[in-house]
Amino acid sequence: MEPAATIRLRATDDGVAQAADLLRAGELVAFPTETVYGLGADARNDIAVARVFEAKARPQFNPLIVHVPDLAAARALAEFPDAALLLAQAFWPGPLTLVLPLRADAGLSPLVTAGLGTVAVRLPEHPLAQALLRAFGGPVAAPSANPSGRISATRPDHVLAGLGGRIAAVLDGGACPVGVESTIVGFAGGAHLLRPGGLPTEALEACLGYPLAPTPTTPDAPSAPGQLASHYAPRAQVRLNVTAPRAGELFLGFGKTAAPADLNLSPAGDLVEAAANLFYHLHRMDDRAGPNGTIAVAPVPDTGLGRAINDRLRRAAAPRPAP
Ligand code: TXA
Ligand code: MG
Repeated sequence: MEPAATIRLRATDDGVAQAADLLRAGELVAFPTETVYGLGADARNDIAVARVFEAKARPQFNPLIVHVPDLAAARALAEFPDAALLLAQAFWPGPLTLVLPLRADAGLSPLVTAGLGTVAVRLPEHPLAQALLRAFGGPVAAPSANPSGRISATRPDHVLAGLGGRIAAVLDGGACPVGVESTIVGFAGGAHLLRPGGLPTEALEACLGYPLAPTPTTPDAPSAPGQLASHYAPRAQVRLNVTAPRAGELFLGFGKTAAPADLNLSPAGDLVEAAANLFYHLHRMDDRAGPNGTIAVAPVPDTGLGRAINDRLRRAAAPRPAP
């Protein structure tokens, strides 16, 4: 059977209403958030959530983030320790995901949490994400809208290139302003970082008034795909901390570079601009380099959003598992 074409919905009231109807019908809809495009499904519908794993070819053991429009909806899903409430009040809506104890009456499909006793909750700021969540009126499970292990999507064209024909629709909101996924914080044994992301850890620690605890390595911690060594991977090879690219390599610069760059994450050396460009530039360079090419990347400072950028780059450069 021919796969049905994925429709591109416009950023209008009508487009949002159609997207919400598709979610209600158990279909998959990609939508923009301020970080990256999410692949949305009704988080209470087992079949819809199962379709997310199938469309992404994602390992079933990886739990999904649940998206809600406001704090009241988040509190219906999870318990909030004091530190979590403090962070939620300071940074939501925004690029922050909190991993919290799941409420018994949350009503989520167990596939969303992969059977864990915790749930990852996020309240996105993007106006189209907000509009869709309100029009739908329920929790939306959404991983990043890319095939598992590949470069995340920050534009609707990336979504269609990776998942076209496998999902019902993409709500077209143009480019995502932040460009790297949300920062994930857990609370078991003190507030700790599970994934660096669009909200710098410096901002979290300033709000809490104390440093984040070390990330625990408990036996029941999920193998978060963002924690796998190889992730966010282009088809091309990736080489990091390069100041002088080799002949034939494509060079992805940051700031002023000694060698001419094919593309530059931020010629001015601005980490916010670099984060917004990261996946977009990786997609463009991968298209040019092809599977046998190499993308050489200039060093990026490891402060602020630089930590999220370097985390993604390290995983993009990690040895790939055999297919
Ligand atoms: O910015 C973002 O967070 C984007 C947008 C779409 O919201 N979403 C995103 O989802 O990056 P995904 O599935 O690509 O990454 C979610 C991460 C994974 O590493 C997953 O394992 C982790 O969150 N996660 C989800 N539930 C968890 C839980 N209960 N405990 C620990 N980690 C969890
Ligand atoms: Mg992802």
